[in-house]
Order: sequence, then C-alpha cells, then structure tokens
Amino acid sequence: MQLSLNILPLLSLALVLLAFAPSTEAHQRGLAWGTNDSWGSKLTGGLYTWYWHWQDGPNRVFDGKLEFVPCFWGKKYASLWQARKSEMAQKLPKAILAFNEPDIASQSNLQPAEAARLFQQELQPYRRKGVRVSSPQIVWNVDWLSSFMKECNKIGCDADFIALHWYGGYNELQKLKDYVTRVYRTFNKPIWITEYGVTSAGGGSQAQVKQFHVDATNWLNSQHYVERASSFGAFAVSNPPDAFGSSKNALFNSNGSLRDLAYWYVHGASKRDVVDDAVVDEAVDGAIEEDKGSASADGDRILQASVPKARFAKRRLDQA
Ligand SMILES: *[C@@H]1O[C@H](CO)[C@@H](O)[C@H](O)[C@H]1NC(C)=O
Ligand SMILES: *[C@@H]1O[C@H](CO)[C@@H](O)[C@H](O)[C@H]1NC(C)=O
Repeated sequence: MQLSLNILPLLSLALVLLAFAPSTEAHQRGLAWGTNDSWGSKLTGGLYTWYWHWQDGPNRVFDGKLEFVPCFWGKKYASLWQARKSEMAQKLPKAILAFNEPDIASQSNLQPAEAARLFQQELQPYRRKGVRVSSPQIVWNVDWLSSFMKECNKIGCDADFIALHWYGGYNELQKLKDYVTRVYRTFNKPIWITEYGVTSAGGGSQAQVKQFHVDATNWLNSQHYVERASSFGAFAVSNPPDAFGSSKNALFNSNGSLRDLAYWYVHGASKRDVVDDAVVDEAVDGAIEEDKGSASADGDRILQASVPKARFAKRRLDQA
C-alpha cells in the first residue's frame, strides 16, 4: 500500500499520541495527599485513581475524580477519626486504612495486642458492613505485623489486605522488592504500598530519585498481588512534611506547578513528552524547570538513620 503524503503527518501524530497514551496499570496508582488542596486539580485526569489523606478528610477538589480512602491514624487523632466516622455514616467507603506506622514510637506507636483490640472495636464493624479494611500500615517491622495478625485473629478480627510503607536509598530498590515479597509470602494477602520514597539520607540526584520512583512503581505494577500504590511526594519541594523523606520526592514546585516526577506519575511520561497543545514546544524545550528547594541539599545530610525516626507527626499542612 502506498501512503499519500497528505496523511503522513496525521499518521505520525497518531503514533506520537499512542506512544504517550497512559499505559494499562495492573495496580491502581494513588496519592498520599498532603498539601494545598487546590493544587490537587493538577493531578487529576491521568493515571491516579484514588488518594488517602492520613487522619484528615476528603479534598473536595478530588470529588467525583479520585476515590477517597479514609484512615484511622491511631489514638493521637481519635477526634479526627470520629469525624471520619460521621462522614462514613453518610456514605460508606470501599476501603479504610488502619494505623499509621504503629511500629514507630513517634508515629501511632502501638503494641500488637493493643492495636488488635483497637482494630476489633473500631474497624472490624466496617468489615461486617462490607468495607475492606487494611492491616496496620507498618514501615519496617514485619514481626510486629505477624504478632498483630495473631492477636487479631485470636479475638475475631482480620485484615482484608496488607498496607505497608517503605523508605530507603535511591539505589535500594532491591530492598523494597525483598520487603514487599517477604510480606506477601508471610501473609498471603493483597498488598497496598501507601507510602514509598527515598529518605533524606538516601542520597541521589533529582534524576536518580525520579528513576527510583519510575523503577519502583513499574516493579510494583508487575506484581499481581499489589493492588494499589501511593508514593510519598504530594507536597511542595520547599515544604516537605518532615526532614525524614527527601524533598526530591516532591510532586510540586514551591509555587504549586508540577515537577517532572509528577508528570510521570500523572501521564506515564515526562513533561517534555506529554502531548498537549504545546507538544512541539515541549518536545524541543528539554529543560524542565525544577526548583531545588531549600530543604533538599541540607536535608540530605541531616539524617543517616536507616530506621525511620521522626515521621509525619502532623499532616495537616498549608491547606486553604
Ligand atoms: C513555578 O516554579 C517553577 C520552578 O521554579 C518555574 O519554572 C515556573 O515558571 C513557575 N511558574 C509560575 C507560574 O511562576
Ligand atoms: C493554595 O494555592 C492557591 C492556588 O495556588 C493559592 O491561591 C492559595 O493562597 C494557597 N493557599 C495556601 C494556604 O498557601
């Protein structure tokens, strides 16, 4: 067959569009939301399908666009859990996340038996109503989770799926793989990774931190048992929620514009590849502006711990 010269430009445009069409995701890509709510509108319309907000309520910008998953953070935010329960009395969610990093003293800090009692009292009733409830969201201690599961089963509760966080160096993807694989083999339940990223001590240039996210997300996507994943990063590069996570995980510049990593998460392509009205300009303009963020360079040297220390005590950030 002969192609007429007239349709060639159309064909190549179609090929470009195909190349950058969002790929089919095996797992659902989500947001661990944590910044100015109005910025959320920049992250819809792409690959994200859901979000969670730690102890806080829904971001109205996402209504009708992303599924909200409430979380019972732990005892410290009991009053906010009451607020989430009032919302759920109006409309049941599909899923609820349990305790934020109970295996860390500065976080929800629970003993397994105590966590099981709290789960039985506050979360098991939702399972009876058909809501899927996660395990407590551990950040490193798989033995803690084993004890929790035993205690929970003993008193008649259970989790529908396992939720985990993971942090490490930009070049430690293998550790993430080992951890997630070990958890799957131990509990044989579906897994959600509700925070993952590079620590401040974890090094890496901006490009290397982005590559970590790309490789980690692609790997998680290829594991049949991983249902959902939400990276740590929905904040401004100049205003990370704490000094533990690297500011290079950030999805936003300090003025709320999207960083290159965010384009990849939303569209499965870098900013320069995203097909929009400015496709030609973007394609030639390889230079993606990223502000370095005051915290990043210093933050990289502040902590050397491989076990998380101070973590996200407060997630209610600069919301309008
Ligand atoms: C926002 O900040 C980025 C990075 O510093 C910059 O490239 C961009 O031009 C800024 N956008 C506006 C609207 O000021
Ligand atoms: C949130 O972002 C909007 C739009 O960029 C801005 O007008 C508003 O001042 C911001 N709110 C806060 C508390 O920074």
